[in-house]
Amino acid sequence: MRWSSCGAILALAATTSAIDPIEVKGNKFFRKDGSQFFLKGVSYQLRPDDPLIDTDQCRRDAELMKELGTNALRVYHVDDDADHDGCMKVFADAGIYLLIDLDTFDTYILPSNQVWSTRQYKRFAKVMDEFQGYDNVLAFFVGNEDIAAKEDSPGAPFLKAAVRDMRAYREDKGYRKIPIGYTAADIVELRPMLQDYLTCGGNASETVEFFGLNSYAWCDPSTYEEAYAPLQEHAKDFPVPIFFSETGCNVPGPRLWEDMDAIFGEHMVDDWSGAIIYEWIQEENNYGIISYGPPVGDPSKNDATVFDNWTRKGTPTPVSPDFENLKTKWASNNPTGVSRDDYDPDHVSTRDCPTSTEGGWWQVDGDVRLPRLDETVTAYAELAAAMSTASESQGDSTKTSSSGSEASTTGDSDEEEESGTATGESDEEETGTATGDAGSEETEDADSSGGRGQTMAMCATLIAAVLGVTVWL
Ligand SMILES: *[C@@H]1O[C@H](CO)[C@@H](O)[C@H](O)[C@H]1NC(C)=O
Ligand SMILES: *[C@@H]1O[C@H](CO)[C@@H](O)[C@H](O)[C@H]1NC(C)=O
Repeated sequence: MRWSSCGAILALAATTSAIDPIEVKGNKFFRKDGSQFFLKGVSYQLRPDDPLIDTDQCRRDAELMKELGTNALRVYHVDDDADHDGCMKVFADAGIYLLIDLDTFDTYILPSNQVWSTRQYKRFAKVMDEFQGYDNVLAFFVGNEDIAAKEDSPGAPFLKAAVRDMRAYREDKGYRKIPIGYTAADIVELRPMLQDYLTCGGNASETVEFFGLNSYAWCDPSTYEEAYAPLQEHAKDFPVPIFFSETGCNVPGPRLWEDMDAIFGEHMVDDWSGAIIYEWIQEENNYGIISYGPPVGDPSKNDATVFDNWTRKGTPTPVSPDFENLKTKWASNNPTGVSRDDYDPDHVSTRDCPTSTEGGWWQVDGDVRLPRLDETVTAYAELAAAMSTASESQGDSTKTSSSGSEASTTGDSDEEEESGTATGESDEEETGTATGDAGSEETEDADSSGGRGQTMAMCATLIAAVLGVTVWL
């Protein structure tokens, strides 16, 4: 970046804040003017690594997104070293909020590798540092479908530990209170327990601040009773905002999106904060609502435009009739909800921490002590066993004499993590990470931005001097 770019940054700095941040109160999202905010979102991950760095592409897509009536995008992977100013401003100008994963291919919290490590923490923090200053960031995820199989639930305390530490990091840094949560696979043997576990325990510093559910339970034609009544049953008066973080079953197709009428309708609108549909780009999994072109026919051709047999940039063309169907549906779904001043959050209720069941899917017994940063599974399991014995005999479950020395024996090697792009691949419905697997080739320390930091710092000084304000970078 050269000095001449400072002018552009200056112009940008002077024109940002076109969009007001969303806030959480009770189990709802609110706009600054006090009106309730409902997600009409779309999953947006054009390429494995980061869809928020190509400003021209963001601009082309934002035009069509406005026509669709979307107000939010969900992004699964970002590059914390890249420059996001262009895309973030394009989307802010279009009235579009972003929900972003703090984790990525080599930092997932994997149940098979039970640890929440300093390495992961630092990388999560870098993503938060990079995005927290944008007013249109609506949420951060600590994970997506990490817990998705029968043997996975012992990993849940590590997710909660990540929430605890990222919340603390946000407070320490004085960042805006961008909610931190998790998005779950809709697996009936896990969903209710995970929902309750991540919100239970009574310590507000350790619980998720929203819960997203990836559910493909509704395949048109269907009904509220058949598809969503079971989900609603467990969402009633949920303590934090709950929403569909993926939806849009494409079998048999075409999609009519009639579930939107249910989500924004009388049975659910008091408890749910809307939905994010899966997904923007048409690719092998056939979930796309727009296309940049037909399959290329050469899976080995990977370049700036093509990846994994599909064109991933250019002018978006609506996939018919799914795009039009969604547009029509969203145009007719206009819930007003409740205003912030009229809303009494005392109605929400936190449930007890679930107990484990012998031979069952849920194996975390009650409000277990959360693992510390870098605590290994062995140390944690031993400690948990000791703690439960101690609490039985003394009723004291808060004391621990363990030192932090296990840190050096952490099983958190990059190699293990990268082999595990399993966040949901085991779930037949989950195609959300389909573009992602190839991304395990990503090199962690690739520095694509050269001396950006230094030059940006100089620009920041200049801008601060001109505007008389502090500019975060
Ligand atoms: C709540 O959790 C935080 C973070 O783990 C901890 O520092 C604090 O002591 C806990 N508060 C209580 C009352 O246990
Ligand atoms: C790539 O696209 C061609 C043409 O549509 C198709 O026949 C082939 O199966 C695709 N290959 C992969 C690996 O997706």
